[in-house]
Amino acid sequence: EKGAYPYYMLKEIDEQPGVMRSLIEHYVSDDGTIVIDQSLLDSMKQADRLYIVAAGTSYHAGLVGKELFERLTQTPTEVHVASEFGYNPPLLSKKPFFIFLTQSGETADSRQVLSQINEWGYESLTITNVENSTLSREATFTLLLYAGPEIAVASTKAYTAQIALEAILAKKFGEIKQVAIAKSFDVAHELTMVANGMQELVDEKGQYEQIAANALATTRNAFYIGRAIDYDVAQEAALKLKEVSYVQTEGFASGELKHGTIALIEEGTPVIAIITEEKTAKHTRSNTQEVLARGANVINIASRYLSEDGDQIILPDVHPLLTPLLSIVPCQLLAYYTSLQRGYDVDKPRNLAKSVTVE
Ligand code: M6R
Repeated sequence: EKGAYPYYMLKEIDEQPGVMRSLIEHYVSDDGTIVIDQSLLDSMKQADRLYIVAAGTSYHAGLVGKELFERLTQTPTEVHVASEFGYNPPLLSKKPFFIFLTQSGETADSRQVLSQINEWGYESLTITNVENSTLSREATFTLLLYAGPEIAVASTKAYTAQIALEAILAKKFGEIKQVAIAKSFDVAHELTMVANGMQELVDEKGQYEQIAANALATTRNAFYIGRAIDYDVAQEAALKLKEVSYVQTEGFASGELKHGTIALIEEGTPVIAIITEEKTAKHTRSNTQEVLARGANVINIASRYLSEDGDQIILPDVHPLLTPLLSIVPCQLLAYYTSLQRGYDVDKPRNLAKSVTVE
């Protein structure tokens, strides 16, 4: 099934441009109208607040979802780790609407929260890759990711599919709520640009193999930094690297480094900075200067229009709300190559299962 590919993870990374196009085909008709169940939209319209609940990579897709829903629909949105929500639920608003993000649809921590909110009598949506999965059956509504089976334990295409589908849903919901930026957001066009950009990135794989060999193949630890939407991606990038390469790594809000973490920076510590937003670029760059001064091996991943001489990875420019769909791709590839260079089975990392069906 993986055909010419040595590993599913690489195949699934490569499939991402196609996954973007498949979402457009499934959710956007030829005249540009977004096709989403009216009863789902009616239910969301009643909500005064959205609660996204998920685990792992899906939680990280939820962090980006918060940006999309808040900016495109003007609806306050909270994102919760399922295993925490279950035992320490937040104070709910008067009219909450719940969105479960789950590739597999079987994650026990998320199922537990859904049972709870069903008992409380609230409506919910599950966004999943698996039709008829438990979380799909137990939620009021389902939207499918149409990403094709994801076999590698480390999730890649499900993350980008979740973000793209959140963008489609936020666009439609924002239009209904008459939010100006949603009306002018041509999501099918913007996702097509994303698909093209992703293709450029996966076509240039060789360079990431080299960067992994230079910076990550033998390191003990590594840090990913960014601000705002780039911080969301930094957290997912760190999870990818640690899962498949066992390098101790975390994603940090770059401004927070100086409040403690910078103490860990030594000669040669890899610090990977994600820079895709105009309003934060200057600030993240000043944080990279601080770690450079302490000997860090800094790798900048920057959008083309913000790039500077010496940046190692340049991303094609896309809509500012959709940059996570591109910035994560080199990070997935860095994780993949680091795992191979360390001699691990990248599709089946130790101690991990594809779907976590225990709480
Ligand atoms: O199937 P789900 O999206 O609910 O799974 C959630 C997490 O278990 C999953 O994303 C996990 O973190 C992956 N191994 C990440 O690569």
